[in-house]
Formats: sequence, C-alpha cells, structure tokens
Amino acid sequence: MDGNGRWAQKRLLPRARGHQKGVKAVRDTVRHCSENGVAMLTLFAFSSENKNRSGEEVLTLSKLFLAVLKSETSKLHKNNIKLKIIGDMSLFSKEIQVAAASAIELLQNNTGMALVIAANYGGQWDITQATKKVAQLCVEGEIDYKDISSDDISKHLSLANEPSVDLLIRTSGEIRLSNFLLWDIAYSEMYFTDVLWPDFSASELDIAVKTYNQRHRRFGTRQEKAQ
Ligand code: FPP
Repeated sequence: MDGNGRWAQKRLLPRARGHQKGVKAVRDTVRHCSENGVAMLTLFAFSSENKNRSGEEVLTLSKLFLAVLKSETSKLHKNNIKLKIIGDMSLFSKEIQVAAASAIELLQNNTGMALVIAANYGGQWDITQATKKVAQLCVEGEIDYKDISSDDISKHLSLANEPSVDLLIRTSGEIRLSNFLLWDIAYSEMYFTDVLWPDFSASELDIAVKTYNQRHRRFGTRQEKAQ
C-alpha cells in the first residue's frame, strides 16, 4: 500500500492525511475482495523498517492502526471476515495488542475471507523466526539438522497452512518487494501500478485481477497453462 506520503505531498497536505485517505482505500479493497470471493487478502500496513521513520509518523500510523481496529472490527464481523495479524506486535502499545487480540478472537469463527494485516512485519524477520523454531526442534532432538526440509521452515512461517499467494500488488510505481513475504511469494504473480495507494479503488483492483487472469502460471514447469 505505497504512496500515501506522495499523495499528500502532491496536495501540500501533511503525510498523515495521505495515511488517512489510505484507510479509505483499505476499506474499499477489503469490501471488493470479500464480495468477489477472494479467500485471503494480506495488507502490508507497517513494515519492520517503517519503525525507523520519524517518531511522529510512527505515532500517526500506530494511532491509525488502533482506530481501524476499533472502528472496523464490527463491520468485518457483519461481513463474515476473519482476521489474522502477522508481524512482531511487541513494538506496539499494550492498548493496540489488546485491541488486536480481541478483534481476532471475535472474528475467529467467521467463514468468509481471511484478512491478514502485516504489522511490524518483514519477510526476513518471518524466515528468521521460523528458522529459530526449527533450530529449537533440532536442539530438542525432534528433527535431525541434516533432515531439515523447506516444509519444516514453511510450517513455522506466519502464513503456514494458509492458501498460497497468487497475486502481489504494489502501488505507487516502485518496482521492488521491500521485504514483504519473500518466502511465500516464490511463485506469486506480481502486479505493479503507478496509482498511489489512496487512489487505489475497486476498478484498479479489477484491472490487476484481469491482468493476473491473462498470465500463464507454470510454477517452474514447462506446462503451457496452469490452473
Ligand atoms: C506507504 O506509504 C504506506 C504505509 C507505510 C502505511 C500504510 C497504512 C495505511 C494505508 C493505513 C493503515 C492501514 C491498516 C490496515 C491499519 P508511504 O508513506 O511510504 O508513501 P510514500 O512512499 O509516498 O512516502
């Protein structure tokens, strides 16, 4: 969800206004995905590197995170949406951690789309924390280090047992991953658009999905067209 700052700067507004407008794009995107049968939507709301921004901006983003948890949870519930949060939540205040835990609990039995919010998340952090768990199993004698497989790592990642990532969308014209997911996107399709996140809309999402549907996924094989 990149480009909030530039959206605001173009309008001579404080960056915080871009993030606020970004929340509206989040709402529209969640609604559109949920209504159109997307199984899981993962939003990169706060990267592990974002905490190195100014204290003021980190505070703005943290406040927005709390406000979103408080104002949107009942709407998510009405729409049968489940919630998962991935990332190192220890960075955030107790109040945010409690609000996140109670939202996850309230929505846990919902059967519709799963919404995943990546907060203080980094793909490298995720692989590192999974590796530590596998190392612990080696120490405990559960796994011989010579037998460690990619499945052993996958099983301990934040998105273990979740559907694979089909499509990754990055807004704002930057063509990089910025430490998002990494392991999980080994065979994902990538879609980059110049649209700034606050201007992202249901119709922009439709264009991304249409592009995705024209791709031939081969997953490293030579088959002409995979499902
Ligand atoms: C990137 O834009 C965006 C972020 C770092 C924050 C994204 C957060 C939201 C959209 C609101 C909160 C959402 C949830 C789900 C709680 P940028 O600031 O890097 O923009 P720039 O590259 O133009 O400066």
